[in-house]
Amino acid sequence: MKKFFAALLALSMTLSLAACGGSAPAASSSAASAAPAPASSAASSEAAAPADDAAGSKVGVSMPTQSLQRWNQDGSNMKSTLEGAGYTVDLQYAGDNDIPTQVAQIENMITGGCKVLVIAAIDGSALTEVLKSAKDKNIPVIAYDRLIMNSDAVTYYATFDNYKVGTFQGEFIRDALKLDTEAGPFNIELFTGSPDDNNINFFFGGAMDVLKPYLDSGKLVVKSGQTEKAQCATLNWNTEESQKRMENLIASNNYGPGADKTKLDAVLSSNDSVANGITNALVAAGYTKDNFPILTGQDCDKPAVKNMIAGLQSMSIFKDTRTLADKVVGMVDSIMKGTEVEINDTTTYDNGTGVIPSFLCDPVAATVDNYKELLIDSGYYTEADLAA
Ligand code: BGC
Repeated sequence: MKKFFAALLALSMTLSLAACGGSAPAASSSAASAAPAPASSAASSEAAAPADDAAGSKVGVSMPTQSLQRWNQDGSNMKSTLEGAGYTVDLQYAGDNDIPTQVAQIENMITGGCKVLVIAAIDGSALTEVLKSAKDKNIPVIAYDRLIMNSDAVTYYATFDNYKVGTFQGEFIRDALKLDTEAGPFNIELFTGSPDDNNINFFFGGAMDVLKPYLDSGKLVVKSGQTEKAQCATLNWNTEESQKRMENLIASNNYGPGADKTKLDAVLSSNDSVANGITNALVAAGYTKDNFPILTGQDCDKPAVKNMIAGLQSMSIFKDTRTLADKVVGMVDSIMKGTEVEINDTTTYDNGTGVIPSFLCDPVAATVDNYKELLIDSGYYTEADLAA
């Protein structure tokens, strides 16, 4: 009987994927500037599974690292929400972004009887082999936050609108420097995240779509000349790495707050862990809240929000991990119960095997002006969490 249901699940997933992804154009996974705007229409797709199999079923949740606040929150939100919905959860963190550990943990989830896998990949392209056995066993795979590339085992993708994140960061810099009305030129340096994370195509691509006209016209100047995504990448989104690169940029371009120094007006950073390293380097170079360059971020990590309050970072992006966890648990539940899976994008995210039906949550730009409402009033943090 189980085999029959497994076959039914496989067939229905094949049909639903074909229905959702069939005619969609390929999205950019390599060229940053080509990241397309997502479709806005809501849709759904169906994955049938027998209702009686749902109760108590084991769900595998694989997270990349415990060294960054957001993934701890994602992991614990997923676990508690799934358990609340009646599932058993095998939650694993892959050390500190250790790819072989993540592969081994996923293997164990597959052999250990997980019925659905939820995976936030460290390296989006490193899971092709291990996921072949998930597919062989008809175990649906949900890519969590980061798209898993080059694997036809990926059933759904749930994330925030990553392109929007990038455009928010670019627009923030454009507006803060008043690029449409001031003469300039303004000096800027560019940082993005890990080159193995597909999201940076959208973060960096979205920001560059906004900033490129000003770079082309010479109103914005990157004195280092480092404008290619590969030159601006930060392996594993590592704070020490971004600090080192910022220190080098300061030294080689004579940036600094003094009269004998070159003025640095802005730094684009794709997230908070990278921004923290940049802030450390800028503070060490003598910048204070009174002359701090415009600096972007993402995640509203506690240290970054504290820096925003202290005037040492200009903005972040709030991605409410509770919302993402809820959406993913909804997906798991629909898959297990054979009901329609809620998706709202069927064009943007091609993982190299076709477009993956996706649900994109909405990111929100956060600054000192709205962080209280976004983060404290919503119960995401307490006042004490953000105390200096
Ligand atoms: C996530 C970001 C996060 C980064 C580093 C990205 O894939 O979308 O929210 O800051 O990884 O962990």
